[in-house]
Amino acid sequence: MAARKIIIDTDPGQDDAVAILLALASPEELDVLGIVAVAGNVPLALTQKNARIVCELARKTHVPVFAGCDRPMTRKLVTAEHVHGKTGLDGPQLADPTMPLQDRHGVDFIIETLRREPSGSVTLVPVGPLTNIATAFQKAPDIVGRVAEIVLMGGAYFEVGNITPAAEFNIYVDPEAAEIVFKSGIKLTVMPLDVTHKALTTRPRVDAFRSMGTEVGRMVGEWTDFFERFDKEKYGSEGAPLHDPCTIAYLLEPEIFSGRHINVEIETVSDLTLGMTVADWWRVSLRPANATFIGHLDADRFYALLTERLARLG
Ligand code: BDR
Ligand code: CA
Repeated sequence: MAARKIIIDTDPGQDDAVAILLALASPEELDVLGIVAVAGNVPLALTQKNARIVCELARKTHVPVFAGCDRPMTRKLVTAEHVHGKTGLDGPQLADPTMPLQDRHGVDFIIETLRREPSGSVTLVPVGPLTNIATAFQKAPDIVGRVAEIVLMGGAYFEVGNITPAAEFNIYVDPEAAEIVFKSGIKLTVMPLDVTHKALTTRPRVDAFRSMGTEVGRMVGEWTDFFERFDKEKYGSEGAPLHDPCTIAYLLEPEIFSGRHINVEIETVSDLTLGMTVADWWRVSLRPANATFIGHLDADRFYALLTERLARLG
């Protein structure tokens, strides 16, 4: 079977970096047409640079990297240096990338790619705020019907919030963008905190990255060590959630995951609950289902897949 064409939309971030590496390590299943950076964990100047650092680490410098939107659709940018560090990829020493940033705006790349490729052949994988994707839909409504599906990291129901008591970071940063995406009618699979908080970086799992003995294994080990320091204290857990790679793992091995096809709405008005994903997990409303909301994963299989694939990058 031909590899599935994907565009990764991202704000690296250590867990974004691991998601990108997992995709780039899986060329038989996934054809990464491009990586589009968005402002999120850190400002755009850093996320676009970080995306190139990750491509160089994977030795996949042929994958084009674009800069997208530098701020949410209508709001001021909120960042997360308290989690990811000043650079967004704090942990190991990083050299500046030498591969170029593409000239085209990332939103135009998304639009042109969806218009060029056969309708229904391109999957979008957003793992940051949804600004680029929603802006593309707003600018070129004709592309909405051409998207094969969207598999995104964002939101929460049982785990509620990680940036406010009610909201998950990616949705909170740009709730208006999230609303556009969740109302788009496109087949949507959501990896909320409910599942990512089960994908924990325990000691043996991180040791498995390190014992690969490769540059990729060492870097991923140092990245996970860095963001663990924050999450372990915050959640009192034995490791940190590796959020974003859940999207790519789902594309590779969907049977690792389970969830419900339900209605999910985005709160865009209330100050108190801004960015909340109001997920009708118990199906108590009559609102139509618009998303498959994942709740569980087999964490051992997830980490086995991740370790096996990252080892391929050498
Ligand atoms: C999400 O927010 C970011 O900090 C992570 O990269 C992930 O995409 C988790 O809430
Ligand atoms: Ca992210």
